[in-house]
Amino acid sequence: MAEKKINVTYQEYSSVEEMVPEDQALVAAALEAQKGSYSPYSDFQVGAALLLANGVIVKGANQENIAYPSGLCAERTAMFAAGANHPGVAFDTIAVVGGNGEDVCEMPAAPCGACRQVMAEYQRLYGHPLKVILIGTHAIYKFAKVEDLLPLIFDSLKVE
Ligand code: THU
Repeated sequence: MAEKKINVTYQEYSSVEEMVPEDQALVAAALEAQKGSYSPYSDFQVGAALLLANGVIVKGANQENIAYPSGLCAERTAMFAAGANHPGVAFDTIAVVGGNGEDVCEMPAAPCGACRQVMAEYQRLYGHPLKVILIGTHAIYKFAKVEDLLPLIFDSLKVE
């Protein structure tokens, strides 16, 4: 038996002003995207802004349904919209923010496992690291690739 350790490195910013202008713009887009949330059941509004490799920003927001599982998270709303409308264009960075109405969460919103798996899929599809920015009012985290949020990703259907 060997005990192993998985190390995750990420950047923490204490405010958006510390970020490079491109990331600041993506954070602003995520806050804007939050306005598109349809969340009468949870009253938790999530916005996502996805920067594509060609510079286009695709926004998403959580969409809920009276039959609860029929809804979809903000991140997947953005990623599936990008996949459908910009096929073949790699995903570069996704920024996510959550909160209630005008109030953004103090600590960064963390994407659910299903959204992380979908991020992993597009990262693998395009062979391009997908950076992830998680926004809070007290801290903003930036991850360089999806593995850092989802170690030991399921990514093979083959027995090797
Ligand atoms: N939600 C997201 O949109 N993204 C996440 O990363 C976590 C949760 C949504 C789903 C649901 O509409 C609401 O937030 C409460 O879970």
